[in-house]
Amino acid sequence: MKRAELCKVADIQLLAHGLYKLKIEASDVAVSARPGQFVHIRIPGDKSRLLRRPISIYDAYHEEGNIEIVFQVVGEGTRILSAVKPGDLLDVLGPLGNGFTIPKDTRHLFIVGGGCGVAPIKFAASKFNHTRSTCFVGFKNRDAVYGLQEFKKSCDRLLVATEDGSIGYKGMVTEVLEDELKQNSPDLMLACGPVPMLKVIQQMAEQFDVPCQLLLEERMGCGIGACMTCVCAVRAGEDYAYKRVCKDGPVFWSREVILGETANEC
Ligand code: FES
Repeated sequence: MKRAELCKVADIQLLAHGLYKLKIEASDVAVSARPGQFVHIRIPGDKSRLLRRPISIYDAYHEEGNIEIVFQVVGEGTRILSAVKPGDLLDVLGPLGNGFTIPKDTRHLFIVGGGCGVAPIKFAASKFNHTRSTCFVGFKNRDAVYGLQEFKKSCDRLLVATEDGSIGYKGMVTEVLEDELKQNSPDLMLACGPVPMLKVIQQMAEQFDVPCQLLLEERMGCGIGACMTCVCAVRAGEDYAYKRVCKDGPVFWSREVILGETANEC
């Protein structure tokens, strides 16, 4: 069973409007973290009923014993988190969840992130760099863009889309993905982002017959499989069943998971 650890904040950086990157000294997490996993952080002084917040791991550096997380300020808890300073201590539980699984014979990966889903796939891009990878990242506009240099270093090809066209392709990142799928067939796709985007990718995976893993972001309670706050529906033969995003996921095969209307909004 995972234990929570008190970990020192090494650095905090504003990346884009309301979006922060936090570097945390967490050597045990850094050693074992896999792309797609998350940490569950207790927000110091948070009076809300949500004791911890699940935040995907942006990257992990085992030599230095650090992990990085990226989060958007969306409420009181993340506002408090954005005010921590280097040297402060955070109660960190993790790494949690299953993470992405890459078959050994994978030769070409498509890695897709949109909006808040860009951060979790950065770790996949940097860790799975032994295989050829094309990254697709989508943002609302120039003010929301971050991490492009890091993605460039991590993958073979980076395609950027913004909804207003201020950087890269004008439109949705799924439109860029569709164009590429018409020309290239990767061995596997990995994706994270808002539910409507994941639904489009799920349909494309089916249409182009490409195996695909989707990383779901969901509200959580315990984060370790005990409270059933985070369930999502999955296919079970002709029927369906429920799985826990925190324990059985957060990564699911796109053929397996049934994406709801409101689930895993980020
Ligand atoms: Fe408690 Fe997933 S958050 S079971």
